[in-house]
Amino acid sequence: MIFVKSEQEIALMREPNAIVRDCLKYVGGHIGAGMTTKDVDALVENFIRASGAEPSCLGYYGYPASACVSVNEVVVHGIPSERVLREGDIVSVDLCAYKNGFHGDGARTFCIGKVSEEKQKLVRVTEECFFKAIEGLKEGTPLYDIGYRVQSHAEANGFSVIRAYTGHGIGREMHEDPSVPNVGHRGTGVRLKAGTVICIEPMIAAGTFRVKVLPDGWTAVTLDERPAAHYENTVVIREDGVEILTL
Ligand code: MF3
Ligand code: CO
Repeated sequence: MIFVKSEQEIALMREPNAIVRDCLKYVGGHIGAGMTTKDVDALVENFIRASGAEPSCLGYYGYPASACVSVNEVVVHGIPSERVLREGDIVSVDLCAYKNGFHGDGARTFCIGKVSEEKQKLVRVTEECFFKAIEGLKEGTPLYDIGYRVQSHAEANGFSVIRAYTGHGIGREMHEDPSVPNVGHRGTGVRLKAGTVICIEPMIAAGTFRVKVLPDGWTAVTLDERPAAHYENTVVIREDGVEILTL
């Protein structure tokens, strides 16, 4: 069931989402070669707690950290570890903050030093996929138009769209209905109502879209071990467009 939020609820959601936005910016200013993915997680946890919020991911179905830190072939849900970041890596950092009884959620993919042209293009196109998805998005838009737009842009650039994970509604729970796939047929799916809050999160791969989950039960990697990127914002559907809460 899709919960349409009242203006009051949306007002309460602004704070956790602003914390996510600021935390992603903070991580972008501090991440670099030589750090471990655990160091990145510590930046995230400290920032979120210092902002008076809680890291929603920590303990979520047993997830052991505050951020998902996914390097190169890791698509999503990379568990922070002693893995050291090196020049040429791309690193997606996905984080959620809980405050005022609501969650905020966002992700960015950062380049460590100079990265290959393919990776640069992958990161850029993944971000563009989000902005294509929100072009014209407003009350009454069929849900799967989002996936259609993401898929069209990714595939036109020679990349593939991860199917095994999707965007989602968000609110009092981190994951609410509807599921928001990144592939789809134009003109299909429920028509979105004003006040619906969703996370749109293209996950785009340089090679195959097929993934496997490592024995840790979380870390999702591409089957061909080629890189993948991730970009996510939380948005409110409005009568005349969208309001992005994490930008
Ligand atoms: N932020 C992720 C999302 O977009 C959730 C991470 S799953 C967790 O859905 F278990 F790590 F929290
Ligand atoms: Co999300």
